[in-house]
Amino acid sequence: MSETYRTFFGMQREPFTADISLREILVTPTIKAITERIQYAIRLGAVALVTGEIGSGKSTALRHVIGNLHPSKYRVIYVTATSGSILELYRQVINEMGIDITSNSRALLTKTIKQEVLELSQGKKMKVVLVIDEASLLRLTVFAELHTLTQFENDSKPFLPLILAGQNNLVENLRFRDSLPLASRVVAKKHLQGVDREAMETYLDHHLNLAGVKISLFEEGAVTAVHQGAGGLFRKANHLARGSIIAAAKSEKTMVTAEHVRLAATELL
Ligand SMILES: Nc1ncnc2c1ncn2[C@@H]1O[C@H](COP(=O)(O)OP(=O)(O)OP(=O)(O)O)[C@@H](O)[C@H]1O
Ligand SMILES: [Mg+2]
Repeated sequence: MSETYRTFFGMQREPFTADISLREILVTPTIKAITERIQYAIRLGAVALVTGEIGSGKSTALRHVIGNLHPSKYRVIYVTATSGSILELYRQVINEMGIDITSNSRALLTKTIKQEVLELSQGKKMKVVLVIDEASLLRLTVFAELHTLTQFENDSKPFLPLILAGQNNLVENLRFRDSLPLASRVVAKKHLQGVDREAMETYLDHHLNLAGVKISLFEEGAVTAVHQGAGGLFRKANHLARGSIIAAAKSEKTMVTAEHVRLAATELL
């Protein structure tokens, strides 16, 4: 798509992108609620869940929370889950910890991870936090074993809080019998839903602002159309908003209308 729409609307950069910086994240009431819950789980050394629809802002919320944990006090181990075995997950964790070890032994890998957690928390007095994004992809066999990673001194020391984020089936998977040891350590959970129309308007203005546009370009009907078309979800809203801005610029209209949003929607799945 041509970039002339940016010039047309006087934008300093591409609007509605995924690569916003930490400071540019809109701190919504939901993000505040997630922050509180994650901090609570970290204090207790327990498990917190962040679930939500696709593109609702889970990873962004995690980024906000993690980005605001002071690096001198916290060591966050962030991994994006795969549908692989627990061995694969352990390797990801070890890799993220910067440890150079290759092994096929689950026992050795867990021992290595736990030693490092102990060294960080006892030796260096840091709070270690394991964050697993896309945790809804994890196999049930992984859920059945994952809690063992968080057990120190017969489960009396909460050295490794765990934050799991993923789609809604994460909760369903945790309700299986084999997942119960892990599920029983969950102390807080938050579900991200599509936002209401008012919050969507705030969201659209926020991203326009990031692109250097200080006025709203969306007519009331266009805001409603983006909100409805996206089901209140941010990623889809990004695509509808950007697409409709392009459509408006093409027809040399200074405001985006519901019709522009409808045109943008025809490009999306
Ligand atoms: N708080 C926010 N402030 C600004 N932009 C946001 C915010 N939350 C989400 N976004 C925008 O929405 C996009 C999608 O959000 P994100 O990737 O966090 O969703 P997700 O729920 O993790 O999606 P998936 O289910 O695919 O993992 C981001 O790339 C970003 O552009
Ligand atoms: Mg995500």
